[in-house]
Amino acid sequence: MEFKLNEDQQLMKDMFVEFTEQFVKPIAAELDEQERFPEELIPQLGETGLLGIPVAEEYGGAGADNMSYVLAVEEVSKACASTGVTISAHTSLCCWPIEAFGTEEQKQKYLPDLASGEKLGAFGLTEPGAGSDAAGQRTVAEDKGDHYLLNGSKIFITNGEVADVYVVFAMTNKELGNKGISAFIVEKGWEGFSFGSHEKKMGIRGSSTCELIFENVKVPKENLLGEVNKGFKIAMATLDGGRIGIAAQALGIAEGALDAAVEYVKTREQFGRPIAAFQNTKFTLADMKTRVEAARYLVYSAACAKDNGEPYSDKAAMAKLFASETAREVTWRAVQLFGGYGYTRDYPVERMMRDAKITEIYEGTSEIQKMVIAGNLLK
Ligand code: CAA
Repeated sequence: MEFKLNEDQQLMKDMFVEFTEQFVKPIAAELDEQERFPEELIPQLGETGLLGIPVAEEYGGAGADNMSYVLAVEEVSKACASTGVTISAHTSLCCWPIEAFGTEEQKQKYLPDLASGEKLGAFGLTEPGAGSDAAGQRTVAEDKGDHYLLNGSKIFITNGEVADVYVVFAMTNKELGNKGISAFIVEKGWEGFSFGSHEKKMGIRGSSTCELIFENVKVPKENLLGEVNKGFKIAMATLDGGRIGIAAQALGIAEGALDAAVEYVKTREQFGRPIAAFQNTKFTLADMKTRVEAARYLVYSAACAKDNGEPYSDKAAMAKLFASETAREVTWRAVQLFGGYGYTRDYPVERMMRDAKITEIYEGTSEIQKMVIAGNLLK
C-alpha cells in the first residue's frame, strides 16, 4: 500500500510546513526554556485553520479528512511537540466528541468558536485514582432536576487552564461502575470551577497541564454530552481518535530529530572528516529512518481507516505504541550522534528527547495500547 497524498492533502501539508517554519520553529526553544504556553500563537493557529481541520464546514471547520489533521500535528510537532499536543488535545479530545455525540444545539453553540480558535478545548477524564483505570472515576454529577451538580477534580489535563470548553466525565450512578459514567460540556468561568496545581514537566513544557477542580458546579441539563450513563464509551471512542493524534505527534518528534541529525553529521568533523563518513553514523541514520517510515505507515493507516469509516481502535493503538517508541528511540540516537553538543540546549535534540517520553504515557500508556491491541485480537 502506497500512501500518496491527494492534491488537497498536499496543499494543506505545504501550508502546515510554511506555518511551522514561520511561527512555530522560531519560538519552540524559548517556550521550553521558559515553560511558557504560547497564548500569542492561538489566534494564528485559528486564522490558519489549524484548530478545526476535521470539523465540518457547517460548524466553522475546514471539513477536511483525518489524514490532513494528522499531517498538521506531524508537521507542527517536528518543530514543537508542545504546540502539537495543544492542537491534538483541542481537536481530538474536545471538538471530536462534541461533533460525534453532541446535540445539534451543542454543535451550533460550541464548535464554531472552537474551530476558529476563538476558544480552546480540553478533556477531563484522568483523576488521581483513575489513570490507566479510566473507569475508577470519583468525580460525581448529581441529578438535581434542571441541572447536574458536579463535584471532584481532574489531573494532568492538557490545555488545562488555557482552555475555555471542557469535555468532562463524572459518575452519575456509582453503583453501575463504568456503566454509570456520563460526559458533560463544561465552560470556564462557571461558579465553582477552578484550577489547581500546574505540572512542572520533563518535556512538552510549552503546553499547559493542570488540575481542574469542581466544587458544586451547576451544569445545565442541556450540557450532558450523549446519553446519561454512556460516558465511558464516549471516553474510549474519543481516545481512539486521540491516540492517532498523539501517534502523529510522536512521528513528528522523531522526524524532527532525524532531520536535525542528518544536517549535523554532514558538518561535524572528527578524525579529519565529517562524522557522516563513518559507518556507525550511516548505520544509525539508516535504523532511524527505517523506524520513522514504519511509524509513518502505521499512523497514516490508522488515519485512513478512520476516514474510510473502518474500525480503527486497534490501528490507533498500534500507531501510538510504535510511533511513541520510535520517537523515544530516534531522539535518543540523535542525541548520541550529536555527542556532547546534543546534551546541551544549544541544539533541539535534547528537548525532542524529553518531549518524546510523554508520548509513551499520555492518552494511554504503551501497556494500555498493548491491552487494546490484544483485546481486539482475542475478542
Ligand atoms: N470504543 C467504544 N467502546 C469501548 C471501547 C472503545 N474503544 N473500548 C471499550 N469500550 C466499551 C466496551 O465495549 C465495554 O462495553 P460493554 O460493557 O457494553 O461490553 C465497556 O467499554 C468497558 O470496556 P472494558 O471492560 O474493556 O473496560 P476497562 O475498564 O477494562 O478499560 C481500558 C479498558 C482499555 C484499560 C481503558 O480503561 C483505557 O483505555 N484506559 C486508559 C485511559 C487513558 O487512555 N487515559 C488517558 C486520559 S487523556 C490524557 O492522557 C490527558 C490529556 O489531556 C492528553
